[in-house]
Amino acid sequence: MSNFADFLEKSRKHVDAALEHYLHSLSTQQAPLVRAMRHSTLLGGKRLRPFLVYQTGRLFGLMPASLDAPASAIELIHAYSLIHDDLPFMDNDSLRRGLPTCHVKFGQTTAMLAGDALQTLAFSILADAEMPEVAIQDRLKMISTLAAAIGADGMCLGQSLDLAAEKEQVSTTILETIHRYKTGSLIRAAVKIGALAAGERSAPALDYLDLFAADIGLAFQVQDDILDVVGEKKAIGKLPGADQQVGKSTYPSLLGLEMARAKARDLYHTSLASLECLATLGYDTDILGALARYIIERDK
Ligand code: IPE
Ligand code: IPE
Ligand code: MG
Ligand code: MG
Ligand code: MG
Repeated sequence: MSNFADFLEKSRKHVDAALEHYLHSLSTQQAPLVRAMRHSTLLGGKRLRPFLVYQTGRLFGLMPASLDAPASAIELIHAYSLIHDDLPFMDNDSLRRGLPTCHVKFGQTTAMLAGDALQTLAFSILADAEMPEVAIQDRLKMISTLAAAIGADGMCLGQSLDLAAEKEQVSTTILETIHRYKTGSLIRAAVKIGALAAGERSAPALDYLDLFAADIGLAFQVQDDILDVVGEKKAIGKLPGADQQVGKSTYPSLLGLEMARAKARDLYHTSLASLECLATLGYDTDILGALARYIIERDK
């Protein structure tokens, strides 16, 4: 695990430099809007979604420079989703990554617009930024994949279902659907665009990669739910107990902690089965396996 942590840290620094570069290209650095975008993008965060982009692209021999744009685009979408997720009329959270949430620091209007502008910046990068080894038709597929993953058939749908399920007793089937949409969709997109960057080369692996991504995407949110109950404020950078406070439907609230943990473990094992299929195709999936394990064992 400690080797993996070092590896993740190295990747985090790498994508942080790319994010700084793209954010720096905005012309009005001192505007509250841009300061809010920088606050919510650059200050903390595990950068697991960019890591997935880099590691998936690496399976097909792509160099990091070809993946900086898609890795950054995914992280910018994630940052936008967190700003909106924390707003008073959504989860109403005041702490994120150990700092005041965007709306607490910059006000609701600026926070909302910062989220909007991060989303368009992500698509500008995917459309315009340098991707040395990526063909134009594959760039288009990446744009289309990301757009589909985060809208009314993806993340936004999940967020809207999540809010509708507050203070409701939903079934585990419905909860799973919510989690797959709100969190799983973007994680699946991270894996898919990392693969699409390699063009036709990745085609035989796409289905197994997507199965893997769907499992770790759901596991990621199950563990996030668990950490809301057992996590330490210092580690998670959020106020523990926030889900319970608003009556969120979560895995621990529906199943209890032990069953929630068992669910995360089951998903981890199924995700490994997809990696084994990829290994039979000749891919070295050790790092993706270590990431899957980190996702269910993490304390932050
Ligand atoms: C938190 O995501 C939001 C969810 C989708 C559960 P992360 O736990 O990846 O947040 P950061 O980026 O590391 O802060
Ligand atoms: C967030 O889920 C999902 C998205 C932002 C799309 P949560 O609401 O559980 O994330 P945290 O716990 O606030 O990070
Ligand atoms: Mg939420
Ligand atoms: Mg939230
Ligand atoms: Mg949560």
